[in-house]
Amino acid sequence: MSTVRQATLRDYQALCALFEELDEFHRAARPDFFRRFDGPARTWEQVGQWMAGPDSTILVAEDEVDVIGFAVLLPRPPSPFAGAAPRKVVVLDNLVVRADRRDRRIGRKLVAASMEWARGQGASHVELGVHAVNRHALRFYERLGFGVSVHWLSRAA
Ligand SMILES: CC(C)(COP(=O)(O)OP(=O)(O)OC[C@H]1O[C@@H](n2cnc3c(N)ncnc32)[C@H](O)[C@@H]1OP(=O)(O)O)[C@@H](O)C(=O)NCCC(=O)NCCS
Repeated sequence: MSTVRQATLRDYQALCALFEELDEFHRAARPDFFRRFDGPARTWEQVGQWMAGPDSTILVAEDEVDVIGFAVLLPRPPSPFAGAAPRKVVVLDNLVVRADRRDRRIGRKLVAASMEWARGQGASHVELGVHAVNRHALRFYERLGFGVSVHWLSRAA
């Protein structure tokens, strides 16, 4: 049985371990994009800032014993373009469920709680980026109602 709640700095070590898992996953999938670095997976100050809000937060999923997943929610500044339609976007910046707890609907629960938090912020949309190689995550999000909005292309110069 898992529950979702807002994180506090008491979760810092558990969050760093999960960030490390996510970073390792990304390094393996996109060595052209991500590299190993020294120091904590995320600084105490950075994590504290995200938690402090008011327009950002970290949600954690926990079982009876451990924190087993999290979602980071950040604001996206509105477009300065006069012709942009008004929309308030919350970005689901990082989402991970501990590898030994996947496929038990914990990710689904974190996304549902993220949507609820975003609605509470008055958001019109929740958006996120997925690396094209991460087909699993793409299918996971599509299953939860997300659709491709922009194809962001890249080629070596
Ligand atoms: C993506 C991730 C968060 C999903 O978490 P999870 O707890 O395993 O997912 P859930 O069990 O809640 O699955 C939710 C739904 O998505 C579906 N789903 C999950 N993984 C899937 C996959 N690989 N392919 C297709 N569907 C998938 C499930 O079947 C489920 O649908 P259902 O509830 O209708 O049966 C988890 O796999 C993870 O941490 N991956 C590594 C990090 C990552 O890629 N993060 C996202 C990009 S930043």
